[in-house]
Amino acid sequence: MAQLWGGRFTKATDQMVYDFNASIGFDQKLFSQDVRGSRAHVKMLASVGVITEAEKDEILAGLDGIEADVESGKLEITSEYEDVHSFVEANLIDRIGDAGKKLHTGRSRNDQVALDMRLYTRDQVEKTADELRHLLGTILGIMEEHIDTIMPGFTHLQKAQPITLAHHMGAYFEMFKRDVLRLQDIRERMNYCPLGSGALAGTTYPLDRDMTAKLLDFYGPTANSMDGVSDRDYLIEFLSALCTIQMHLSRFSEEVIIWNSNEYRFVEIDDAYSTGSSIMPQKKNPDIAELVRGKTGRVYGALTSLLTTMKGIPLAYNKDMQEDKEMAFDAMETVQNCIVLFDGMLETMTFNKEVMAASAKNGFTNATDAADYLVNHGVPFRDAHGIIGQVVLYCIEKGIAIDDMSLEELKAISPAFDADIFDAISMETCVNKRLTVGAPGHDAMVQEIASCKAFLA
Ligand code: ARG
Repeated sequence: MAQLWGGRFTKATDQMVYDFNASIGFDQKLFSQDVRGSRAHVKMLASVGVITEAEKDEILAGLDGIEADVESGKLEITSEYEDVHSFVEANLIDRIGDAGKKLHTGRSRNDQVALDMRLYTRDQVEKTADELRHLLGTILGIMEEHIDTIMPGFTHLQKAQPITLAHHMGAYFEMFKRDVLRLQDIRERMNYCPLGSGALAGTTYPLDRDMTAKLLDFYGPTANSMDGVSDRDYLIEFLSALCTIQMHLSRFSEEVIIWNSNEYRFVEIDDAYSTGSSIMPQKKNPDIAELVRGKTGRVYGALTSLLTTMKGIPLAYNKDMQEDKEMAFDAMETVQNCIVLFDGMLETMTFNKEVMAASAKNGFTNATDAADYLVNHGVPFRDAHGIIGQVVLYCIEKGIAIDDMSLEELKAISPAFDADIFDAISMETCVNKRLTVGAPGHDAMVQEIASCKAFLA
């Protein structure tokens, strides 16, 4: 048991209490952030004259040595230490003696852990945004290739109107684009440095908080020391953004699973991203998409957990806040893995254009356009709706598409039909006449693709 605070105690800590209280098992993830924060702190302590230049140099050299030894595996982070902060400080004192004992001047583990967690989260926010940008590039590639690939668009999972694969993909582009923007926004708001808040009430040393903030690439110091040590809003915001990303990935996964089913066959997932069955030799399962969908629960769990942990905590630091780490780390890693795997699955997936086109044609997705045709030929919309309803019923009985009817059959239902009906309800016409901003028509999609490209540039 290596603890930083034995002075006022007359008895050793009970072993179970020690284990329950310790965080080294998971906060060792913050090792490099902890060392980085300590470097900035001692540089500032020397610059304001709280320690000497020589002491600063000794401490910096000691920290370099600890970092090198941990990286090379020569020094192991073990449960002998209560937390990562104790690990670094105790090892520093072992190495350089008295100068090491000055590292913690004007600092508390409360502002230290607040800083470490913020530095770690900031890195993860950036990394997640980078991975999302890569996924957006993959989606954009599919949009460019499939600008004229016709497929049915659905509402209520019932075929509704014809769209293109580019248009469908474009919807996901917008979702993940908003996710990137959300992450940028979170980074902006969180980018203030809590170091120098002390335990809760700042400190009597003349700390230069602007200097440490600058050394650690923050915009500046946090404004209130009580808030500085006990704010985890940025983490809640990040977890909330991760939940939204995961929700988007889960919806997309659900579609891939449906499209990949034997009944739909719109897509085929690459062998490298599929798995087999131990008993059924014919099976090729979409496990990756299912797992991405399935992992959504644990990511939502992390957000719910932290919101619940924070809701009853009086100012300022309380040990409850140690619970901000494990599930958050898990959520960050889970979402990043899901983005990368989903991206790879999408990039290698084959789209069955003929199956999608036939599905659009045979699902009455042009029924709205057929009604619009009648409206353009003088029939009031409500009547046109009724006439096309009869046409659809006729087709269902015969097992054909509207396009397969003869002009005579159509005229028997309404004299308003003419020979130009067939062109008016072809899938190509149905799609390409939809030219409102954001619609699937070729020319509208050219515009949309250009703005997607501009976003990624
Ligand atoms: N392990 C603690 C945490 O994660 C570090 C801060 C400890 N502060 C304290 N006063 N015991 O929150």
